[in-house]
Amino acid sequence: TFPKRVKIVEVGPRDGLQNEKNIVPTPVKIKLIDMLSEAGLPVVEATSFVSPKWVPQMADHAEVLKGIQKFPGISYPVLTPNFKGFQAAVAAGAKEVAIFGAASELFTKKNINCSIDESLQRFDEILKAARAANISVRGYVSCVLGCPYEGKVSPAKVAEVTKKLYSMGCYEISLGDTIGVGTPGAMKDMLSAVLHEVPVTALAVHCHDTYGQALANTLTALQMGVSVVDSSVAGLGGCPYAQGASGNLATEDLVYMLAGLGIHTGVNLQKLLEAGAFICQALNRTTNSKVAQATCKL
Ligand code: HMG
Ligand code: MG
Repeated sequence: TFPKRVKIVEVGPRDGLQNEKNIVPTPVKIKLIDMLSEAGLPVVEATSFVSPKWVPQMADHAEVLKGIQKFPGISYPVLTPNFKGFQAAVAAGAKEVAIFGAASELFTKKNINCSIDESLQRFDEILKAARAANISVRGYVSCVLGCPYEGKVSPAKVAEVTKKLYSMGCYEISLGDTIGVGTPGAMKDMLSAVLHEVPVTALAVHCHDTYGQALANTLTALQMGVSVVDSSVAGLGGCPYAQGASGNLATEDLVYMLAGLGIHTGVNLQKLLEAGAFICQALNRTTNSKVAQATCKL
């Protein structure tokens, strides 16, 4: 059985843009986020307070966060890898942040330049400060269905890291198939292991579509009771420290599927398609969303 409603976490302005080589002008980012808010997305991940030496595309994080319209009822989390990023995010007005770890040592080293244990210490510092400042913290675990550097990742390791983030105080943990290599069977095995440690209400899935499996993997998670799904408008996305990783599950395709299943999302597909068309035009690229490409209408 499926959940009655699904919360979609739109990650396009962050995951979608972080991998773009050409710097996207700040007003374009702001307009994209405002259009996504207009479309009714309940959560729009706005930017990352990471080092501009590591990800130059996100260097305008403070301007973006200050420039967007803050719609009531919509949250605009931002990525924070360390305490420095957390402080900068709070100074720029962030009410919610996301920490990002992984179930793979080598990916953690390549992505945030530390071991898993060190990353957990950094996150703990953020979680303590966040609690004191009344800021909610979302957690990511990357490489849950495979790692670009280590290959196979065991469900037990994913469950272990997820449990740690949950017990440290993350209210929700998003399980990332960072390189989009998973299939529904692998998703089922991984989720079964995680569900032994963390309640399903605290879990989200974050599927990249490199092998065309993102929608199927997401559907599998929904069948297992997960009701929070990350996706990216126009299927943009990728991680600069996961070579070969392609875009996320397209939000348009997710919304279309959920509408067909009678699952409530609160998202207006027409307005979402307009946001996708806007960013694709600004980036001068074609959309990865099948729904946006489709010309046959029922
Ligand atoms: P480091 O080089 O070890 O950091 O990087 P450091 O503490 O030695 O500092 C180096 C320099 O960066 C210093 O500047 C710091 O001030 C500065 P300098 O003194 O040389 O001028 N610095 C910062 N500047 C701004 N904001 C900060 C910050 N921290 C240090 N927060 C660090 C460590 C974590 C900073 C770096 O590795 C980093 O920024 N990594 C981010 C990588 C990233 O953004 N990856 C993509 C997001 S994760 C993802 O996409 C996966 C996900 O979508 C889920 C999935 O798909 O699975 C979430
Ligand atoms: Mg991602």
